[in-house]
Amino acid sequence: MNNEEMRLPIEGVQTFEKVFIGGEWIAPRGGRLIESIDPATEEVWTRVAESGLEEVDLAVAAARQAMQGPWARYFTASQRGEYLRRFALLLRRDAERIAHLESRDNGKPLHDTEGEISKAADWLDFFAGGADKLNGSQIPVRPDALAFTRREPIGVVAAILPWNSPIMMAAWKLGPALAAGNAIILKPAEQTPVSALQLGRLAQEAGLPPGVVNVLPGYGPVAGAALTTHPGVNKVAFTGDWRTAQKIMQAASGSLKRCTFECGGKSPFIVFEDADLDKALVVGLNSAFRSTGQSCSIASRIFVQRPIYERFASAFAERAKAIRVGNPLDAHTHIGPQTSADQLAKTQRYIGLGLESGARLIAGGGRPPGLDRGYFVEPTVFADVRNDSCLAQEEVFGPVIAMLPFDDEAEAVSLANDSNYGLVAAVWTQDIKRAHRVAAAVEAGLVCVNTYGATHWMLPYGGFKLSGIGRENSLESLLEYTEVKSVFVDLSDQRPADRFAD
Ligand code: NAI
Ligand code: MG
Repeated sequence: MNNEEMRLPIEGVQTFEKVFIGGEWIAPRGGRLIESIDPATEEVWTRVAESGLEEVDLAVAAARQAMQGPWARYFTASQRGEYLRRFALLLRRDAERIAHLESRDNGKPLHDTEGEISKAADWLDFFAGGADKLNGSQIPVRPDALAFTRREPIGVVAAILPWNSPIMMAAWKLGPALAAGNAIILKPAEQTPVSALQLGRLAQEAGLPPGVVNVLPGYGPVAGAALTTHPGVNKVAFTGDWRTAQKIMQAASGSLKRCTFECGGKSPFIVFEDADLDKALVVGLNSAFRSTGQSCSIASRIFVQRPIYERFASAFAERAKAIRVGNPLDAHTHIGPQTSADQLAKTQRYIGLGLESGARLIAGGGRPPGLDRGYFVEPTVFADVRNDSCLAQEEVFGPVIAMLPFDDEAEAVSLANDSNYGLVAAVWTQDIKRAHRVAAAVEAGLVCVNTYGATHWMLPYGGFKLSGIGRENSLESLLEYTEVKSVFVDLSDQRPADRFAD
């Protein structure tokens, strides 16, 4: 498929009939198509070729071949960085068009998808710069020996991607995988398969050697599962549900594949009475409802110290009611629909569980008026939620917030940590000592003080407990895409002790 063929019009039903394997666009043997639904209309807006087991085999073979070719053998680390930089540049060039595709597929407002694509390019740029800063070390074992470590690519990486921020999550894996010299197979989520194909097109245009980047849209239990058991895959990098991560870990155990997982959270947002409440309110709302709650890092449990609890909760509810839910292509829209019918059903189920639990509904709970079609749901706030209820313990992945009171710092920390998740946390206080005490005591991979959502390419990101294994972002994440090899060279003139001489 050439670039013109990929440059399809935005409106009307169109079909992406080919997948990207070994530098070529190939129509899958099975001939089946994934119907991608526009969540704002509930209608099929595009069809995408479904990769089956044969395509998985072909892609793995192509990626393995790439690891025998110039990419792995002759390219310098700086050259790998150059390719990533070119990739980022092309992504910025096509940002507007890809954002349109992504908004149709995923339902996020254009403002958000454009922002995510720009960030995805930032991520690629960062790892472009990281490629030639991945050093081994020299280890002074003995004066008359040279011992050092090499950071070698793991080999073939299967990136199994979620539907909530498809292009960002792809960039988080592409960047370090390629910078460290691996080949990668992107398996986008079946709900949002389109933008990953665009990444394939850009990888091709950036001139990456065939097989270094492959894109296989397909279903989790078919193409996804096949990648996780395939003996030719060396590492699985996954973002999604922890239950899926469990299955992947089991499947991958056959060949002890390296696995990194990012599996969501139930992140606490702790507001002490001395906090800057105006700021905490604005940031809290954004952290709770952005992406229609479909983010691993959503601030979904808001703990408020009792003296300010009622005031904060009612201000939060008033602001939540004023959020404009609507069509993602309308510039007026604050948040779009849920991405899928399944996710809408899940969100509605948790609203039901919240009502049953006796929690106090103070905003939302239903379908936004005037939106008869589409997977829309109102921003919803429950107050007086019990921390041991489903609503406070389980990830909803929708715009449904649990608000809970606490009395003192010890209680706040213990409630925050009483969770199987541990991804992000926020502490709001003017007391610097308390801020540091709580930051150290909270079990989370990222703690924000008087802010939220500080995900940045320079900061390691990932979870404690069920929130995941390993870290993404930062130069540290490059290490997750390498094997360490120790090399020990004897430089001594001594004869070796011969224990078996007599
Ligand atoms: P999921 O974990 O099933 O989907 C994520 C990816 O895994 C998709 O690409 C899917 O095709 C793939 N997959 C599914 N089953 C697989 C298998 N057996 N082997 C290999 N790959 C497989 O998540 P799902 O069902 O779409 O969403 C359910 C919930 O998961 C959401 O409501 C949310 O709570 C959570 N989630 C969290 C995300 C995060 O950012 N941490 C992202 C997506 C979902
Ligand atoms: Mg879709």
